[in-house]
Amino acid sequence: MKSILTIVGARPQFVKAAVVSKALAEVGIEEEIIHTGQHYDHEMSTVFWDELNLPAPSVNLEVGSGSHGKQTGIMLQKIEEFIFGLPQNPDALLVYGDTNSTLAGALVASKLHIPIVHIEAGLRSFNKEMPEEINRILTDHASEFLFCSSEQGVDQLAKEGITHNVFNVGDVMYDALLTFSEIADKKIDLKQVLPFNKEEYYLATIHRPSNTDSDTNLNSVLQAFSKLSKPVVWPVHPRNKKKLKSLAIPKNLHLIEPVSYFKMMVLLKNCSKVITDSGGLQKEAYWMKKPCITVRQETEWVETLKGGWNQLTGANTKAIVKAVQQNPDGDWTSLYGDGKATKKITKVLKEKFI
Ligand code: UD1
Repeated sequence: MKSILTIVGARPQFVKAAVVSKALAEVGIEEEIIHTGQHYDHEMSTVFWDELNLPAPSVNLEVGSGSHGKQTGIMLQKIEEFIFGLPQNPDALLVYGDTNSTLAGALVASKLHIPIVHIEAGLRSFNKEMPEEINRILTDHASEFLFCSSEQGVDQLAKEGITHNVFNVGDVMYDALLTFSEIADKKIDLKQVLPFNKEEYYLATIHRPSNTDSDTNLNSVLQAFSKLSKPVVWPVHPRNKKKLKSLAIPKNLHLIEPVSYFKMMVLLKNCSKVITDSGGLQKEAYWMKKPCITVRQETEWVETLKGGWNQLTGANTKAIVKAVQQNPDGDWTSLYGDGKATKKITKVLKEKFI
């Protein structure tokens, strides 16, 4: 039987693994999971494993936080050591998306000649200042199987000369949303998550270094929030807590602890609009038919911009306020597959790999 070693480390990767691991097991592919420990707070990690019923990782490398070089370097060393301790190399190594954990996994595998399976391949922001952009490009160019969320990804890879084993399967996060949103509805009471009695609200998440490491940019975002007519609910990533404490928080802005996937689903389903710099949330907003305001200059998820469902503002107060006041003027069409990406991935792997 063929075996896959999966590397995860950051919050969105736990969600993706929840559906992909189940699908791998269903077709009889043996999987072992390494948690790098890139995310380690209870609300950033354990909550997801418990809630999504993920198979326990074989090991948590407890890499923790640090500069990008140090974090990635320690992961490289520890992932390689783990593989050296196995009776034999896995037949493939699977990575998701574009985090430092993704790149570390891909580099170790390529040095050991283990074929890499990359899920969420072919995405580009064309902004090389983002650590994720470098992580994606390098991972794609080292991979053997590349699963894209849309045709755009396939085309981009072709432009870069990658055409072998490239598949447009749709997005596994859509599978996750369809699998878990009803369960989340049943399990989570919105009243317990919202810091006020139910009323209309905007859901915000801001955590990109470009927005949060600059006082000017973060203040522009806070200013924009203060000018909005509805309350704003913002589950705060731990990287931003300290900084926010030192800034003036508008009265209508409600900062809450990071939330689990189920709580996020419920917050998303009941909000009026989403204001974010997250990649995943832009897609989730789209699937839930919520207009999204993206506090960045560019997006990898360009398809969501069609019809005004997603608007790019950068960290610009006026642009954010204006975008929140606007509504989509185009029809909602289905994007990023049909919620069966995991089945398509395992089908390809069974045909080509087993
Ligand atoms: C990482 C990914 C980003 C992804 C995000 C998902 C990279 C380069 N970035 O960003 O692409 O969108 O995860 O959430 O891999 N921290 C804690 N506790 C934790 C985790 C982080 O306190 O459990 C704090 C630390 O101060 C740390 C900082 O957050 O230095 C940043 O964490 P890190 O994992 O380096 O990047 P993220 O911003 O989470």
